[in-house]
Amino acid sequence: MSAMTASFTVAPAHARATASIRRASAKRSGARAVRKSIRAEAVKEKTSTLNTTKSDAIFKAAQDILPGGVNSPVRAFKSVGGGPIVFESVKDAYAFDVDGNKYVDYVGSWGPAICGHANERVNAKLKAQIDKGTSFGAPCELENVLGQMVIDRVPSVEMVRFCNSGTEACLSVLRVMRAHTGRDKIIKFEGCYHGHADPFLVQAGSGVATLGLPDSPGVPKAATNTTLCAPYNDLDAVKKIFEENKGEIAGVILEPVVGNSGFIVPDKSFLEGLREVTTANGALLCFDEVMTGFRISKGCAQEYWGVTPDLTTMGKVIGGGMPVGAYGGKREIMEVVAPAGPMYQAGTLSGNPLAMVAGIETLEILGEDGAYEYMDKMTTKLINGILEAGKAAGHEVCGGNIRGMFGLFFCAGPVKNFADATNSDTDKFARWHRGMLEEGVYLAPSQYEAGFTGLKHTEEDIDFTIEAAKKVFARI
Ligand SMILES: Cc1ncc(COP(=O)(O)O)c(C=O)c1O
Repeated sequence: MSAMTASFTVAPAHARATASIRRASAKRSGARAVRKSIRAEAVKEKTSTLNTTKSDAIFKAAQDILPGGVNSPVRAFKSVGGGPIVFESVKDAYAFDVDGNKYVDYVGSWGPAICGHANERVNAKLKAQIDKGTSFGAPCELENVLGQMVIDRVPSVEMVRFCNSGTEACLSVLRVMRAHTGRDKIIKFEGCYHGHADPFLVQAGSGVATLGLPDSPGVPKAATNTTLCAPYNDLDAVKKIFEENKGEIAGVILEPVVGNSGFIVPDKSFLEGLREVTTANGALLCFDEVMTGFRISKGCAQEYWGVTPDLTTMGKVIGGGMPVGAYGGKREIMEVVAPAGPMYQAGTLSGNPLAMVAGIETLEILGEDGAYEYMDKMTTKLINGILEAGKAAGHEVCGGNIRGMFGLFFCAGPVKNFADATNSDTDKFARWHRGMLEEGVYLAPSQYEAGFTGLKHTEEDIDFTIEAAKKVFARI
């Protein structure tokens, strides 16, 4: 995500600190950002038909209470300008704001709402569990049930450890890779986000591997100088890093469909090549499926691609809207984790019964016949309709979807890596985003984010969205 630095001031995804954005260039880009946000405000004032009086007041008050008015940076709408929308409630495919506006929601709490917001079945299980206790801090059978579901569905997973967020899953899996191999270095890819732990906050340089430099104040060089970066979809770059660091690389971690630089699809041969090169070098391959897990397919992206990593991280969907993360892999590797083995990792709320019941019910629903086919059908119709409308209105647009994950760039494409993604016209994206809000469609407030659909998005919602897109493309 380093490249986004040039024109962005906000991390692409949540904290997206990643969004390497950042900080290093924050000062430099600060003035530009202010100008941009004034521009966006002007756009909003001139054209807005959306009443955001209460949202604006709440967000203004929040800025005195929470840093930047939010608890995760991307929510502040900085990269699209205009104030953020403050939610009152969510249900099925819809979000309702404090001013009484309704939106078709394609963020879905950044992924977890795959069965629809406030799903009745998930809620019923949660309500029943609350009366039995919300946190045990002791073993409970629900952990076995969800753990076994994960093992049965995800090809790489023979043992699993639950934790509380995707960030925690990724930082823990990094420790597993190092503990298992006895090596320190890892390879990650430009534009892939793996949570906000120090070793992953690396400025991704262009070209071939570079030694990582900390991407945020507060991250010591020592924490990132074992993180090597390569461009996504560039197997030769990865091979070169392996050659230059023989016997030193613990593993390779990547998003098996990128959602954190916008929606970017890997070449299957790239994933297969990573599988080969890691095995040949005694290194581990980890798919970060925090976003793609149980979204791309019942057995996650690894099942979809037919490439089995050694380790997998999960989050979002697996908690059905409750805070959760998980990492798993081959038994032989996972047995390094305490107390089976010497690698320490723990959590007061890990495996808590609320997250477990929400996860179990969510995976039950997703396991029913036709779930992924339905999401595929709806999402393909959605993105094709949007792309057609954009092209018909004379815009350069490209994009696509896999099942319930999709994305759109304002450039001709193809977009194969983060550098390609930065060709997108982000000013136009900002106008598109605000325009869609005004039409009742809630999209992720950054060009560098994927969109999500779920089982509750209806054909009518998709048609409504395409009609909204036509109107907005005509005026941006
Ligand atoms: C691929 C990926 N990994 C890790 C994370 C971090 O997860 P969390 O926000 O739950 O800490 C995210 C969050 O969006 C993600 O998309």
